[in-house]
Amino acid sequence: MSFKSVAIDGPAGAGKSTLARQLAGRLGFLYVDTGAIYRTVALAVLRAGADPADESQVVSLLEGLDIRMGYGEDGAQRMYLNGEDVSGAIREHRVSGAASKSSALPAVRAFLLDFQRRQAREHSVVMDGRDIGTVVLPGADVKIFLTAAPEARARRRLLELEQRGEQADFEAVLRDIKERDWQDEHRPAAPLKRAEDAALLDTTSMNLEQSLEGLLALVKEKIGQ
Ligand code: DC
Repeated sequence: MSFKSVAIDGPAGAGKSTLARQLAGRLGFLYVDTGAIYRTVALAVLRAGADPADESQVVSLLEGLDIRMGYGEDGAQRMYLNGEDVSGAIREHRVSGAASKSSALPAVRAFLLDFQRRQAREHSVVMDGRDIGTVVLPGADVKIFLTAAPEARARRRLLELEQRGEQADFEAVLRDIKERDWQDEHRPAAPLKRAEDAALLDTTSMNLEQSLEGLLALVKEKIGQ
């Protein structure tokens, strides 16, 4: 049996995870959120009291880590660290900061490469991240670079925070997004960039439904699903 793969890359806040999950549901593929995997490593680093930017400290931890992925009854991806369900804990703000640092370490990227590839060897997948089309699955059947203007991403993020009852300021959220973009695009290991053969989908003036239709059209064009 041959499995199909859809790689979706793009900056933070482009709607990638929501859209990739919905796309996977429509296609009947497994959704793999690779950001959650990087976040799990970052959580382990924080819990060990290590510095997420210090390669030798992080490397000495990696060997002993038991990281697993599973799916809940609702179909949502869950992450397990040494047997504990950490799906909620990895969403904390301090973990975002640590993940941004530890994911820039080549040793962490190398450690997670096979873990990610294995998912695509064993299932048809929609995988989202920063380097899926360029590094993890360069042979993916469909590659999409999903983006939106920083202002549009900041507006969406603000809405999300407000819905969670959190206070936030547009300018601060926008600054945070631009800073993360810069870091992701300029890090030496696997910088965020569009694969040459990736289709570009700019969702600045699209709502979720229109973006999903856009993704489905691109998939259909490539693999006829
Ligand atoms: O998409 P996210 O915010 O959950 O990602 C968490 C961090 O991991 C973020 O700093 C980017 C990084 N990341 C990465 O370097 N490569 C991936 N394939 C996915 C995420």
